[in-house]
Amino acid sequence: MTRTNRTAWETAGEKYVLERDDLLSQAVAGGSLHPFELDLLRDVLNDRPRVVHLQSGDAMDDPDLVRAGAHSVLGVDFSAVAVATARRRAIDLGLPCDYVVAALPHVPVRSGSADLVYTGKGALIWMPDMTAWAGEVARLLRPGGHFFVYEQHPANPLWTWDPDVARIRPDRSYFGRSFVNYDFPANGAVEWQCTLGGIVTALITAGLEIRHLAEYAEPFWRMGGVEAAAWDGRLPNSFSLLARRPS
Ligand SMILES: C[S@@+](CC[C@H](N)C(=O)[O-])C[C@H]1O[C@@H](n2cnc3c(N)ncnc32)[C@H](O)[C@@H]1O
Repeated sequence: MTRTNRTAWETAGEKYVLERDDLLSQAVAGGSLHPFELDLLRDVLNDRPRVVHLQSGDAMDDPDLVRAGAHSVLGVDFSAVAVATARRRAIDLGLPCDYVVAALPHVPVRSGSADLVYTGKGALIWMPDMTAWAGEVARLLRPGGHFFVYEQHPANPLWTWDPDVARIRPDRSYFGRSFVNYDFPANGAVEWQCTLGGIVTALITAGLEIRHLAEYAEPFWRMGGVEAAAWDGRLPNSFSLLARRPS
């Protein structure tokens, strides 16, 4: 399964190569982090954290994390294409960011080396085992370190993209285990499901203390050209969570 998803992501990552110049200008301009991410992370970023960015993907958040105070960012992603483009951009911009190719949930990064583990924006749906994933997050954090995620709400895949009325897809269940996603950028990859309760419980079981949990009507990303009624402000489409490994 990991191999199918990895191949899908290597293909999707070619977009980052084609859009290299555009992404470079966007990285200089900033604005990848949502203002509420910056608000929620302000105190943590003021302490100049060493950040581990799990599933760093196009890595567009990393220049913003550095500008907002991060000492350094180590991105981890199993797409060699995404890692190569992110590393090239960091060199071009002279940023203290580096990237490694590795597959979660077991990554070759030292235990306790992160002051902040950052992830999200389409990351958790690729994790089949939330318990193993949360355990890896906790392992990477130093005692007192923080974990932050801004992510698609687990209910979001249930909504149709009908423009007139929000409907529930007949082929999906909030309590389902997985489905194949044929939309870009998944391109046939298997998306895993976990309820919000499942995510929170996995983090608590891994030993983290939840500091903040909020649900939002706005998706973290809108597919271009789609105006879904499900995004009109009445349904949950994304969430943010801040947790801490006890000292
Ligand atoms: C939608 S992207 C989101 C990443 C990033 N936050 C962004 O905004 O680009 C999902 C990323 O997860 C990576 N990924 C999926 N499964 C993975 C795994 N098991 N281990 C490491 N990376 C994985 C993919 O290569 C992809 O870059």
